[in-house]
Amino acid sequence: MTHLRSDSCISVTQLKKKYGEKTALDEVSFEVNYGKVFGFLGPNGAGKSTTINILTTLLLPSSGNVKIFGLDVNKASSAIRKRIGVVSQQPSSEANLTVERAMDLYGLMWGIERTKRKEKITEIINSFDLQEIRNVKNDELSIGQKRRVQVAREFIHEMDLLFLDEPTVGLDPTARRVLLDYIKSQVKSGLTVFFTTHIMEEAEYLCDDIAIINRGKIIAFDTPLGLKKKYGKENIIQIQIKEKISELILKLASNVSPDSQIIKDGENSLKITSIDPQNTLTKLIENFTLKGIKIINVSISSPSLEDVFLTMVK
Ligand SMILES: Nc1ncnc2c1ncn2[C@@H]1O[C@H](COP(=O)(O)OP(=O)(O)O)[C@@H](O)[C@H]1O
Ligand SMILES: [Mg+2]
Repeated sequence: MTHLRSDSCISVTQLKKKYGEKTALDEVSFEVNYGKVFGFLGPNGAGKSTTINILTTLLLPSSGNVKIFGLDVNKASSAIRKRIGVVSQQPSSEANLTVERAMDLYGLMWGIERTKRKEKITEIINSFDLQEIRNVKNDELSIGQKRRVQVAREFIHEMDLLFLDEPTVGLDPTARRVLLDYIKSQVKSGLTVFFTTHIMEEAEYLCDDIAIINRGKIIAFDTPLGLKKKYGKENIIQIQIKEKISELILKLASNVSPDSQIIKDGENSLKITSIDPQNTLTKLIENFTLKGIKIINVSISSPSLEDVFLTMVK
């Protein structure tokens, strides 16, 4: 990017929004760095859409300071709008047009000239796997396909920042995963993404940083792993081995994972607590194998971020 850029892509300081007497956002502050996927996570009514609407200059804040690309949303809305993409919560599509035609129209709206549009549309149709539905009318698409098209068409114009307001609502797990993977692949090219959801797993799958919002207040801000470390109950790794659990084996396990609690759980089985179970388990398997200890079975029971979330918003 050639433009002058501030340190953060999004900078929000003490943002307040009132609808009449109702406070929807209460002193919300956070930063999003360039090239990151930021997850804004919260239950219904938490204030996610209100935040997106303010960040995308559709709604004015009651007070506080909001900067996108270092530009004030109150003063530079058109400059900001040129460089962002928005997929709002309400699906929008022209029912009677085919996917390809609607996309072309959308490109026209963005002032993209014809040859460039054709080029871009081909690219998008390929990367978002829309070949089979390119000539299907919008109102004949499934919810999942509609969403995919809605996200895909944003890529027709150049943007530095993409806002997605609960893009996976109404999608089945497969369609959801497919959509998240499309977004992921686009993020690799340096796009910054602001993504709202009420589903923890999604945030965990997609996001570098997560803010949890509840009743208009941010109650946590961290990486997915950081959140689990701070607020999650520990995971329990269970390892079943061929031989009997000896003092030696217990010692080996505790050397591998000094911070864990290690419990003998029957003749051949160990229970080990861990906040980073994948890593701990890999190390355990490596070390056990090195010492010729035969592993029969392993399992991890993990607290999901969902647990963290539910504990926090309760
Ligand atoms: N236009 C509006 N007028 C009055 N209250 C609103 C309006 N939009 C949202 N709210 C209220 O503000 C709160 C936050 O809403 P919203 O930002 O839509 O939450 P979310 O997107 O997290 O579900 C809710 O209590 C909602 O009822
Ligand atoms: Mg919403």
